[in-house]
Amino acid sequence: MKVLVVGNGGREHALAWKISQSKRCEKVYIAPGNAGCAEVGECVDLNLNNIPSILRWAKENKIDFVIPGPEAVLVEGIVDAFYEAGIKVFGPNKLAAELEKSKIFSKNLMRHHGIPTADYAVFEQYEKAIDYLESREDGPIVIKADGLAAGKGAIVCADHAEAKDAIERCMVKREFGEAGGRIVIEECLVGEELSVLALTDGKSIAPLASSQDHKAAYDGDTGPNTGGMGAYSPAPLMTDKLLDEVIETVLVPTVHAMNSEGRRFRGVLYAGLMITRSGPKVLEYNVRFGDPETQPILMRLDTDLLDLLEAVSDGKLDKIDIEWKDEAAVCVVMASGGYPGSYQKGKEITGLDKFKGRKDAVVFHAGTTKKGDKVVSDGGRVLGVTALGKDIPEAIENAYKVVNGVKFEGAHFRTDIGQKALDKI
Ligand code: AMP
Ligand code: GLY
Repeated sequence: MKVLVVGNGGREHALAWKISQSKRCEKVYIAPGNAGCAEVGECVDLNLNNIPSILRWAKENKIDFVIPGPEAVLVEGIVDAFYEAGIKVFGPNKLAAELEKSKIFSKNLMRHHGIPTADYAVFEQYEKAIDYLESREDGPIVIKADGLAAGKGAIVCADHAEAKDAIERCMVKREFGEAGGRIVIEECLVGEELSVLALTDGKSIAPLASSQDHKAAYDGDTGPNTGGMGAYSPAPLMTDKLLDEVIETVLVPTVHAMNSEGRRFRGVLYAGLMITRSGPKVLEYNVRFGDPETQPILMRLDTDLLDLLEAVSDGKLDKIDIEWKDEAAVCVVMASGGYPGSYQKGKEITGLDKFKGRKDAVVFHAGTTKKGDKVVSDGGRVLGVTALGKDIPEAIENAYKVVNGVKFEGAHFRTDIGQKALDKI
């Protein structure tokens, strides 16, 4: 089978790495990919904003199966385009991807179908949003831009003064562009955060191994929100009992709700949860694999990934069992100095060769590119150093051993990835 992975981050490197190990994979292409992807397959210089050009290339090159990574292409209808062309594709169509595209859509869906989530109100006018805020008791509150805002559209505010500022940033200054024209004002939930990723073909649901990312930029969960500074799997907070509760109160009702709205969901359903005193509540949905959660999850996967993703596309997920290694995995993201603010690119990365070909530790590339025969940084998140270990402490130790052997100027990483999990053991 000739497979095309669409995207250029750590998630796509991990997907391509795992797919390249499939017995049925003849060749994996990554569009546009990065320097790491080029080691497991062939990178193709295609523009993610131009779905017709990706489709044209895939037809010309007789691609059998397409796996889009990022939400932006899903929301733009890449799945619909390939489906109509008769090329097998993994993921939700445009109608189903609305679940991530619009916070208002997902909040209303949860309200109408009794899926637990924070209480909220929706606003399209600045004055009305401010009036609502002023009518409530001062205290913590969350402001969310409706549309996609690269993970930055949720602003957790300590009080109403901060909330007013956040509303202004969304609706007046338009910091998130169109995405902030409509907002959700939401109750601030208290508890522990946990993500659940599940495969679904719209009939069956198969949760993936539990995982947790670290969104804050600095140690101790301080600093600004990022796309994710590291992740670990399994997440000890996710007990069997909690998973059963999440399946029953969140995953099953969400899949049913989408079916009943005529938006059958196929692909990865990712629910970001807050585990509150009154049970799990949904913070947000994503409609794709998490980045960097995918890196530790795929390191632990024993089942053939192509078989698994194809079963989802074919509506045969009930026919396949998913096998996991008992070992734990930890991914430490090495970012450019300054990220998530402004940062420099083009810094040479050294030490990568020492770790090539290892099964127990893989340096997944996120923002890298080749410059001559050198690998240089090319984004905010640069590498996702991922290692296995018999348990989380050993996986942490193994991951940081590799981190300490890889260098680039200004590299920034958290030194406490996985510690949260240790508190739970
Ligand atoms: P989201 O993009 O909705 O996942 O939000 C990003 C982050 O903001 C989450 O991972 C939480 O840390 C935080 N957050 C979002 N919604 C709430 C809420 N209702 N209460 C408390 N924290 C929240
Ligand atoms: N790691 C969070 C995300 O993929 O959205």
